[in-house]
Amino acid sequence: AYTAEPFVPEGARGLPTLRRAAAECRGCPLHRDATQTVFGQGTANARVMLVGEQPGDQEDRQGKPFVGPAGRLLGRALEEAGIDPGEAYVTNAVKHFKFTRAEPRKRRIHKAPSLREMTACGPWLAAELAVVEPELIVILGATAGKALLGSSFRVGEARGALLEREVHGRPEKLVATVHPSSVLRAQDDADRKAAYEGLVSDLKVAARALL
Ligand code: URA
Ligand code: SF4
Repeated sequence: AYTAEPFVPEGARGLPTLRRAAAECRGCPLHRDATQTVFGQGTANARVMLVGEQPGDQEDRQGKPFVGPAGRLLGRALEEAGIDPGEAYVTNAVKHFKFTRAEPRKRRIHKAPSLREMTACGPWLAAELAVVEPELIVILGATAGKALLGSSFRVGEARGALLEREVHGRPEKLVATVHPSSVLRAQDDADRKAAYEGLVSDLKVAARALL
């Protein structure tokens, strides 16, 4: 089976060690076509960990999570909800960009990671959780939810409530919401506004849990 396990340094105490090791991960085939590993970003003292799906095109080029359009929208929503984006640790369930191209040399189109790839990459997320020990995890969308809580996770059912669940053997508090990209994909302005307000409202539940 695909797994990052052999690449994760045992008992790693710091994020820099993990980041260096993750840069060399060959735990699943996604490293082959992507530019680089996009590891989490933020301080080990962060009280809140935000978990997305996987890096997008911009993140793959820049090597940092949530620096593209979805990240800008997320930053705005966090501020509006009363969470300082600079004080959060931001990462993804999968650390390499998965994509297809409609034609050679054309734009790279995001492709959802498979359950096997999510499972393969899980040891990195577990290692980040063990180092950061956040007070709260914010799940951004279905992939992050499945990676953390299992394949039966549904955003629609779980969103906007404070959850207490065991994750990688530790009791964790979590709040789930939609992925910021889903707001950008809304059909029209009215839908987009409603989706954005739903995201902010869920993030306010997270903000309250951090008071
Ligand atoms: N979408 C994600 O889930 N993560 C990123 O880092 C960027 C876009
Ligand atoms: Fe390793 Fe995760 Fe990248 Fe796969 S996606 S190669 S498991 S870092």
